[in-house]
Amino acid sequence: MSSTLSEITDELAALVAAAEEEVGAVVDAKALEAWRVKYLGKKARLSVLSREMGSLGADERPAAGKVLNEAKARVQALFDAKKAELEKQPGAAAEAPAIDTTLPGRRPRAGDVHPITKVYYEVRDFYLRLGFGIWYGPEAEDDFHNFGALNFPEDHPSRDEQDTFYLNDGLLLRTHTSPVQIRAMKAVEPPLRIIVPGRCFRSDAPDATHYPVFHQVEGLYVDKAVSLAELKGTLEAMGVYLFGPGTEMRFRPHFFPFTEPSAEVDFTCPRCGGEVCGVCHDGWVEVLGAGMVDPAVFENVGYDPEAWVGYAFGVGIERLAMIKYGITDIRYFYENDLRFIKQFK
Ligand code: PHE
Repeated sequence: MSSTLSEITDELAALVAAAEEEVGAVVDAKALEAWRVKYLGKKARLSVLSREMGSLGADERPAAGKVLNEAKARVQALFDAKKAELEKQPGAAAEAPAIDTTLPGRRPRAGDVHPITKVYYEVRDFYLRLGFGIWYGPEAEDDFHNFGALNFPEDHPSRDEQDTFYLNDGLLLRTHTSPVQIRAMKAVEPPLRIIVPGRCFRSDAPDATHYPVFHQVEGLYVDKAVSLAELKGTLEAMGVYLFGPGTEMRFRPHFFPFTEPSAEVDFTCPRCGGEVCGVCHDGWVEVLGAGMVDPAVFENVGYDPEAWVGYAFGVGIERLAMIKYGITDIRYFYENDLRFIKQFK
């Protein structure tokens, strides 16, 4: 190294001045990087001078080292200040390597189908295969559709406020899906073959088998020659479809104002196969009400009761799900505890 201490001192002063001036024009990370390479990189003059220090005379070396270190420190300080300034600018984060792309990803939480929906889908698919359509109706009903047109006498206990939630304006929360039978029959001419899924409401105190909200699937089939035997055959096939081969069915005579004759329908318990378990009481499980459409109902909707016959049924979806999955408390369905809901894949 041929330079003397005073030459080095002068050169470094000029270098720092140039660096200072140029850093003023730096406006983004790319320009800053070019500036850094030029003044602090391996081939920068400062680095070259550092490496050449050794060739200086022993008397000059300590003093030269000191000016060099001071110059380096000043240039480094210029860099640090500019870097900090750029990082404060909006949008700077996008350029900064803030994301560690080598970290394993976080799996998004996928939703699951609620067991009530799952069982409804099974019932729906069974009836779609038989050629039924799907009809929907409102949850807020009037007395005519929920009761009157279904042939409930004025003083029937089901109209009692203990069972029915009454709303304002003469409306109530439907206590079953049967009012949609009325709506469908008033809307279209027979023949008619539909299921009606939906939420129903009864003012019951919640316990292991009652909840003020529950789900039904209504069925209605009206044509020229619909028979009770056909109803039994269809429901029996549904039992096998839902609960598996070997499932048996029994009709127990019952009363509904809108069907005659009427029955409550039981299947053999698919969980214990005839023994007594937590789900059934005597090897049988009750899952639906059914019957032949009462001619008075046809009259209420303007169908000729001499020309048309029909059957109807209403299945409780919670009941089906409890039997199918061995759930002994209906309240689990409504607690939205993911540990419960995720079990029914
Ligand atoms: N609606 C009746 C109930 O909720 C069930 C039912 C529907 C019965 C259709 C007969 C025919 O209990």
